[in-house]
Amino acid sequence: MKKIKLFDLSRQYSRLKSTLEPKISKVLKNGQYIMGKNVSTFEKNVSKYLSTKNAVTCNSGTDALIIALRALDINKGDEVLTTPFTYFSTTEAILLVGAKPIFVDIDPITFNIDPSKIEQKITKKTKAILGVHIFGHPYQADKVNNICKKYKIKMIEDCAQSFGASIDNKQTGTFGDVGCFSFFPTKNLGCAGDGGMFITDNNQLANKARMLRNHGGIQRNEHNLIGYNSRLDEIQAVVLLEKLKLVTKLNNDRIRIANKYSKSINNDKIITPSSLDNVKHIYHQYTLVVDNRTKFTNYLTKNGIPYGIYYPKPTYMQAAVKKKIKNLPKLKNAERLCKSCVSIPMFPELTKKEYETIIDIINDY
Ligand SMILES: Cc1ncc(COP(=O)(O)O)c(C=O)c1O
Repeated sequence: MKKIKLFDLSRQYSRLKSTLEPKISKVLKNGQYIMGKNVSTFEKNVSKYLSTKNAVTCNSGTDALIIALRALDINKGDEVLTTPFTYFSTTEAILLVGAKPIFVDIDPITFNIDPSKIEQKITKKTKAILGVHIFGHPYQADKVNNICKKYKIKMIEDCAQSFGASIDNKQTGTFGDVGCFSFFPTKNLGCAGDGGMFITDNNQLANKARMLRNHGGIQRNEHNLIGYNSRLDEIQAVVLLEKLKLVTKLNNDRIRIANKYSKSINNDKIITPSSLDNVKHIYHQYTLVVDNRTKFTNYLTKNGIPYGIYYPKPTYMQAAVKKKIKNLPKLKNAERLCKSCVSIPMFPELTKKEYETIIDIINDY
């Protein structure tokens, strides 16, 4: 058997090669490379898929977060409640608009922001809650939205890892004011470069986001805001249009493999992930919890099983954040998980032979 990879994008490419290549070549011949017909068709199709009124594409998930914070007028002096158990860019986006991230501990079962710990952190300066649907398991966005309504603050969902995940059949990204997605290649819906998207039912916010992504204006040479160059290109839109047709199947394949892992991994040194009853978890990552991580990862390496550590430290322990913020918290669950999490190979094209080998090796540990 060939070496098992943590993620193998070339398999998805082989699947799409014959439909994708003529379309990419058409774009190259046509000469309209940025924000053309494919981008607008993708925005229309993806808003239908997610049941949202507006989908505004941009250059990355990080830009989508920055644009969301800017569109909601969050800036210097404002506080944004958020999770520290995420990729750095969630925290980075808050700091980039000049606001202060206030970290809330996570629930040790779902690894998501714990709604019961939110209200004690709300102050007069709190402007928004930015939660992350980590690893494809939705956070309790319905509960968090009720808190936002009670305190009249905004809610932004970081859906970079949760395209297609839902709570009671309602898509992540549609619970709060704004949902932000990343189309980084390894995401559940990924392109062949960088890409991102902002979604909202609020037309006014959507128009502001459309301006912000394009140097603050919609009409050529009219700039109403100081914005960004954050436009999606046509080649990425072609890739996304094709993958959007497949994404339900790709997510279901991840769920099938995750169910197999959860049923077959039986080792009392290892905890497999669980999910809440009313959610669709789309397993962007399949993450184990293990006490002596170094011993376990050395064992995996010795047996040819790749792994990822998402995330080795809470974002508030990153040097860049420590330099900016005094009196950082110590959040027990987030810190404990950062020391014990291990993600194993999870992608739709992982073969039966591969995941069975992974299961056997983990069970023999
Ligand atoms: C939770 C989370 N938020 C934001 C981002 C940023 O997305 P991008 O890499 O497209 O800027 C990522 C991507 O890695 C992510 O995982």
